[in-house]
Amino acid sequence: MTPHEKDPLVVSGPSLSLRYPRADDAPRLFELASDPLVTRWFSWGPYAEVAQAEGWIAAQPAKRESGEIMDFLIVDPSAGALGVTGLTEIAVRDRRATVGSWLGQPYWGSGANFEAKAMIAALAFQRLGVERLTAWANTRNGRSQRALERVGFRREGVLHAWHRHGDEMHDVVVFALVRAAWERSPLAEVPVRIEGTPPPAFIVG
Ligand SMILES: CC(C)(COP(=O)(O)OP(=O)(O)OC[C@H]1O[C@@H](n2cnc3c(N)ncnc32)[C@H](O)[C@@H]1OP(=O)(O)O)[C@@H](O)C(=O)NCCC(=O)NCCS
Repeated sequence: MTPHEKDPLVVSGPSLSLRYPRADDAPRLFELASDPLVTRWFSWGPYAEVAQAEGWIAAQPAKRESGEIMDFLIVDPSAGALGVTGLTEIAVRDRRATVGSWLGQPYWGSGANFEAKAMIAALAFQRLGVERLTAWANTRNGRSQRALERVGFRREGVLHAWHRHGDEMHDVVVFALVRAAWERSPLAEVPVRIEGTPPPAFIVG
């Protein structure tokens, strides 16, 4: 076990928190991600069996260690896990990362996306030294595009045939939140507490 895994990152906002997924989260993740509307725009899913959630959870520590992806459960103290948000596509030289998120359908429109974005942005800009957060949204995923703009991301343009899902290539809208825009955004006003040690591969600044 590496030092940061003994002292895992936990990010807390006013009502929600982010923590790494654990083996016993599998049934809840299966419940949320077996909904085809939730995974409609993803290269994976919907989950058909709990073993897929178990496999995803089991793969996380190695992915954090290698710098491939650092995913967190978005957790409500009474409802439990609401969804997932995380950082990937870390570019150390250019100090940037990509954020991706999904919520179980009952939590769409609940404000959980706003608080989760406030927590992941605080982690990225304050703790990891990121200068730019990128987000991708399928050109047909109007809800995701609107949700990103609402929290302060700026639409930059369309990238054609950018994501491959099975045999299909998808166009995506690229959004960005750069440090100066984050500082001026409502996300930066949310009080966020960051505890624990980040995986070294994710510290860029
Ligand atoms: C993307 C996601 C995390 C956003 O969270 P959310 O809680 O649904 O987002 P919000 O409700 O805060 O914002 C959505 C906005 O889109 C609007 N909207 C809803 N459907 C829309 C559509 N088809 N086209 C355009 N806008 C739409 C909503 O009205 C809302 O805007 P408003 O508050 O100004 O009215 C969540 O919807 C989700 O998990 N979706 C499935 C997974 C996914 O697509 N992830 C993103 C991949 S890029």
